[in-house]
Amino acid sequence: NRVLVLAGGMSPEHEVSLRSGRRVVESLRRLGVEAQTADADSVLLDTLAADPPQVVFPVLHGASGEDGAIRETLDLVGVPYVGAPPQSCRMAFAKPTAKSLVAARGIAVPRGVALPRTVFSDLGAKALLERVIATLGLPLFVKPDQGGSAFGATAVDDAAALSSALVSCFAYSSTALIEQRVSGTEISVGVLDLGDGPFALPAVEIVPDGGVYDYAARYTAGKTEFFCPARLPEDVAAAAAHAAITAHQALGLRDVSRTDLIVDRDGRVCFLEANVAPGMTETSTLPLAVEAAGLDFAVVCRDLAHQALL
Ligand code: DAL
Ligand code: MG
Repeated sequence: NRVLVLAGGMSPEHEVSLRSGRRVVESLRRLGVEAQTADADSVLLDTLAADPPQVVFPVLHGASGEDGAIRETLDLVGVPYVGAPPQSCRMAFAKPTAKSLVAARGIAVPRGVALPRTVFSDLGAKALLERVIATLGLPLFVKPDQGGSAFGATAVDDAAALSSALVSCFAYSSTALIEQRVSGTEISVGVLDLGDGPFALPAVEIVPDGGVYDYAARYTAGKTEFFCPARLPEDVAAAAAHAAITAHQALGLRDVSRTDLIVDRDGRVCFLEANVAPGMTETSTLPLAVEAAGLDFAVVCRDLAHQALL
């Protein structure tokens, strides 16, 4: 049972991934599974060739880890891995694509526009942003069309703040996603498939100290309060579970995913994004939901690795 946990990577989420990887590898070892970590770097192919693992558990966040690139490489060298295939990762990782695929299945999504950096030249940018605000209204949320852990993401309350939010965003991606900001309850819903089809874990309600679930709120213990199960009426919780499973299926995801949602003031569940390599850190929501479901996180990791071999 040799498992290679891939963690680190080249995205801004490198540190987060190392923390996720450490938790997964320690969990596997606690069950007696022989597990090691490696980075997805220039020597990965050599590592795979010199000492082939039975199965890879990718815990890489962000570009190359979640966009399908590394998994394409694993497919090429014929090493099985936990999680979704490259094509599904690509669709999930591109937020505008994911939104349209999930919306086509009847799940609500916030209205938004994708704005490439090249279009955002100073010549005419002001008129363009005015048009965006006229179309979408305020408040808005600006985030990279690809990426995670809130890097480059900014809540925009007034027109004057939009342009600087875009500049921060373009530091992380060449295309910005500008969305209507839905106010309500932020939740995330993990989906597992341990061989009998996908099922939703209890929703985790996210209540950040300062109201914004930014990088510090995500990864500093005590900076965010979590409620699992989320404090939602039964029908809303069921709608959230349905939305997460629908996203998992619409994007062709496999084994494990986590869908982030907002429940608006009318109880409507709105899809934000789906993650193919959800955070597994001490402050991440997926492991919390696994335990709240009465499952053992380590056993789930072992079972996921095992079923990738089948
Ligand atoms: N992108 C981070 C790791 C998450 O979604 O949990
Ligand atoms: Mg994410």
